[in-house]
Amino acid sequence: MDYFNYRRSELFAEDVAVQDIVYMHGSPCYIYSKRTLEKHWHAFDDAFGEHPHLICYAVKANSNIAIINVLARLGSGFDIVSLGELERVLTAGADPKKIVFSGVGKREDEILAALKIGIRCFNIEVSTELDRINLLAGQLGVIANVSFRVNPDVDAKTHPYISTGLKENKFGIDIKYALTEYRRAASMAHINVVGIDCHIGSQLTETQPFLDALDRVLSLAESLKAEGIHLHHLDLGGGLGIRYKDEQPTEPAEYIQALLARLAGSDYEILLEPGRAIVGNAGILVTQVEYLKPTESKNFAIVDAAMNDLIRPALYSAWQEIIPVNQHSDAVEQTWDIVGPVCETGDFLGKERRLKLAQGDLLAIRSSGAYGFSMSSNYNSRPRAAELMVDGDQLYLIREREILSQLWNGEHLLP
Ligand code: LLP
Repeated sequence: MDYFNYRRSELFAEDVAVQDIVYMHGSPCYIYSKRTLEKHWHAFDDAFGEHPHLICYAVKANSNIAIINVLARLGSGFDIVSLGELERVLTAGADPKKIVFSGVGKREDEILAALKIGIRCFNIEVSTELDRINLLAGQLGVIANVSFRVNPDVDAKTHPYISTGLKENKFGIDIKYALTEYRRAASMAHINVVGIDCHIGSQLTETQPFLDALDRVLSLAESLKAEGIHLHHLDLGGGLGIRYKDEQPTEPAEYIQALLARLAGSDYEILLEPGRAIVGNAGILVTQVEYLKPTESKNFAIVDAAMNDLIRPALYSAWQEIIPVNQHSDAVEQTWDIVGPVCETGDFLGKERRLKLAQGDLLAIRSSGAYGFSMSSNYNSRPRAAELMVDGDQLYLIREREILSQLWNGEHLLP
């Protein structure tokens, strides 16, 4: 459920007409709904009831500081994967004690910065990362809280590019060797073992793979307990899917009920790292039709947004719904490929869509809040789009459209 709806035949973001936003700020632009964002975060947080938990929003899904700040005000934690994301969440007002640091390749400077600010936990993904963190924590005279990201070898049944919990993936530590790693960690002077972590993939629509992963993680936690290594939390990662088309993903409440049922009796604090399920359907990308180009084999609608703005269709053949901003059109309904101006055949936003289109029309690409702007680039020297957030009848510019000179900012001519 989101707050992008038609009133008569015009698309609104909460109480603001999308067309008015484009008149003011131009096209293409990303528009987010604050109310939707908050609702989706609460769907996770509320479902835990009294059970100790922390929702750590996965910043990579959408890292605009206004989005982070809205969630920080709700009390959210954050899952980060780089120094850039650390600085972003701190700039946006996050509590360092609610930051977990994931990622397979943490550099020394990244670890040092996170240790200095005193984050909640490092999710270790490589055996030698443990030694590096212990050494750096020793140099600073602090103790690092750590958990291991274990790879439970569970098939998430999602797109292979976003499936991460199989043996052959680069992520995490094979659960078979986890006991050895925990023993090593428990004996280190500057390490405090606090939890276990796993993340098996993204856009999962069923609960079963999550429950299978939880079973394996729980059994490891119990084996550790038998050895005197007591964990405080289990971090089950992100990955809950959303509805793009006709998927029927498990609702957060149902997912969390299933987790709690499986956990019955144990009091581990549960951490989750949802990204897409919080922000995906809280954003749209609005674009304008520049040209209609009917050809012998296909009808192309060439729009002013492209794969540099939203790469999901090109990269994963992802399907995202494309709807008109104004429904009243005299045009005849036809089948269109919605394509961008970038010089690549893969530059499409949607294929074979039935739409009534005229040059100059505005289209909204739904479910663009997650992995939309955050994966955008300047390919073809295209300035990145503006980002706006609506709150009721208020509109806020949360990222200015890039200007041309930003494109070569920092580049230098030879003498
Ligand atoms: N935690 C970790 C360690 C992750 O690697 C990810 C996502 C998440 C949490 C959040 O997952 P989510 O709840 O958003 O599914 N660009 C792809 C998705 C890549 C996901 C990468 N990791 C896409 O556009 O579909």
